[in-house]
Amino acid sequence: MVITMPRGTQDILPEESKKWQYIENKLREISNNFCYEEIRTPMFESTELFSRGVGDTTDIVQKEMYTFLDKGNRSITLRPEGTAGTVRSYIENKLFAKTIQPQKLYYVGPMFRYERKQKGRYRQFVQYGVEVIGDESPKIDAEVISLAYNIYKMFGIENIKVSINSLGNPEERQAYNEALIKHFEPRIHEFDEDCNNRLYKNPMRILDCKVDADHELVKTAPKLLEYLGEESKQYFAEVLKHLDNLGVKYEVDHNLVRGLDYYTHTAFEIMIDNPNVELKTLCGGGRYNGLIKLLEGPEDKKGIGFALSIERLLLALESENIELPIEETIDVFIVSMGEKAGTYGVKLTNDLRLAGFKVQNDYFDKKMKTQMKIADRYNAKFSIIVGESELETAEVIIKNMENFEQENIKQENIISYLEMKLRGEQ
Ligand code: HAM
Repeated sequence: MVITMPRGTQDILPEESKKWQYIENKLREISNNFCYEEIRTPMFESTELFSRGVGDTTDIVQKEMYTFLDKGNRSITLRPEGTAGTVRSYIENKLFAKTIQPQKLYYVGPMFRYERKQKGRYRQFVQYGVEVIGDESPKIDAEVISLAYNIYKMFGIENIKVSINSLGNPEERQAYNEALIKHFEPRIHEFDEDCNNRLYKNPMRILDCKVDADHELVKTAPKLLEYLGEESKQYFAEVLKHLDNLGVKYEVDHNLVRGLDYYTHTAFEIMIDNPNVELKTLCGGGRYNGLIKLLEGPEDKKGIGFALSIERLLLALESENIELPIEETIDVFIVSMGEKAGTYGVKLTNDLRLAGFKVQNDYFDKKMKTQMKIADRYNAKFSIIVGESELETAEVIIKNMENFEQENIKQENIISYLEMKLRGEQ
């Protein structure tokens, strides 16, 4: 039987991986400009990190984790997200003691969730995420949201919507949760099984229910805003003020609750505003002030971050008909005729590659016409043609593949000639 890739995964073939590289480079570039540094944490962690960090009642922990016992009988989980691992590492490596605070970190890497397969939803997907851990300030919240927003703008995706909410502090949420329980309890039997399970464990998630989203009780549920204290309201107002200042367009959505337990205060999502796209959420994040303490780190350290998947970014680009400016050319293709010239061609290819040019040659001593065709297939900017007679005069012919002009160049001048032509260097 032919072995195929596991459900919910994908092979990224060379044509596609060029796009991935382009996107990842751009993400690294913008992270660098915003002064975020890369952190690489393991792809698997102790299961307890996620059950404690992400939350026992979340869909991720209850249904979606790839969990197994290793040969030492330890429960291990393939990371379903990057925040818990980053915070674990922040604590374990005492990043809170670094002189530069807050620590501004980013990551790019595969995450794993056993989810129902759907366009834009994979079981292995790549998240780019940032986490700012240390002290809190509305300016940091706004910076993080602005970074996420501007990533989509940078790729030319204009039809996006930022939804933002404040989830308050744990006490405020507690009071709100109690109000929600009171609200839903008498008629919870009208909801699906998931919502019934959520009623006492995590009632806010009933508002997030996909099945019963239009239920009258969801619409008439108490609003979290009414349960926020002055300080939380003030903090949220400050975040919005800074977002206005930064030109980030957003909508306050008081029903926005995120699917992970660690959020406090600012929470946000970025959606694509395109009717042809089924899975709208491109990015999600928020503040998680309790998580550092929950994972036994310093009590006063707080964090905020977001993550987006490159898979959904690519879908957004596709749905907006945006072509990435990917260069599909090579600098030089080397065409050789005859055995001696062929050997010289192999060496010249190697030398030019080591001098920093992108170069290919023919391996199979094909006819000149065929070699020129291959040069075209590679979209070569120049071809270098060498035969027995050129070898005798220690020259090559360099042909500009765009305007077909060609010149005889001394072998020792090839590199300087190409530098001048391709890089404008004298
Ligand atoms: P999340 O909302 O679970 O948050 O995921 C963030 C983003 O990852 C989603 O908006 C979506 O773009 C992408 N994503 C999630 N699941 C899949 C999937 N199965 N296939 C493709 N893409 C997917 C988190 O993961 C938090 N750790 C974000 C965060 C960072 N909050 C604070 N810091």
